[in-house]
Amino acid sequence: MGYPTMTVGTRALYIVVCGGGYPAGDLPAFVRQAATADWDIRVVATPSSLKFIDTALLANLSGHPVRSEYVLVEDDDEERPIPDAVVVAPATFNTVNKFATGISDTLALSLLNETIGSGIPIIVALPPNPTHAKHPAFLANIATLRSWGVEVIFDYEGVVLENVPDIEAWKAMFPWQKTFDALEATKKP
Ligand SMILES: Cc1cc2nc3c(=O)[nH]c(=O)nc-3n(C[C@H](O)[C@H](O)[C@H](O)COP(=O)(O)O)c2cc1C
Repeated sequence: MGYPTMTVGTRALYIVVCGGGYPAGDLPAFVRQAATADWDIRVVATPSSLKFIDTALLANLSGHPVRSEYVLVEDDDEERPIPDAVVVAPATFNTVNKFATGISDTLALSLLNETIGSGIPIIVALPPNPTHAKHPAFLANIATLRSWGVEVIFDYEGVVLENVPDIEAWKAMFPWQKTFDALEATKKP
């Protein structure tokens, strides 16, 4: 997607939001928290995530439009600094598998594929889903991402989905604070 300008002052954070169900609806609180910690935030949404997020609210909180599609260079007058960090939250089974295999069929994946190998920290946060954790390719792809230096947060041990009473309880299990702590840790030299 191209990064035409360098970061000046605050740190540039790109948040990729995937169609990871209801935790995506809690992204505004994370954006507020990160903005308070002096991150200049741009949200890049996968098309599947759009049904779970309030793009107007996220644009208002971040000060930048939420992008989910590629645009022609001549139609693109947005300033886009080089990221200081990229967070994927919530990530999906789908986007993790595609990222680890170099697929670039969403703007979000293009951002990730252009960032990997640059040394810019990438944090991928997944909901604790033990069903997904039984999929060998998914686990192998997480291991691949970790071997590339991506911080993948996926804590599913001890989680029994049948014991999660409702959507609110499921949302509350998303590792937002751990993601924020990992993001803040990228500030350390
Ligand atoms: C209500 C609902 C909840 C979903 N929850 C999850 C989830 O927790 N994790 C996940 O990987 N996919 C979940 N999905 C499926 C993804 O939206 C689907 O795989 C989609 O293709 C992901 O696309 P993306 O990775 O480009 O965002 C959910 C879908 C719906 C409709």
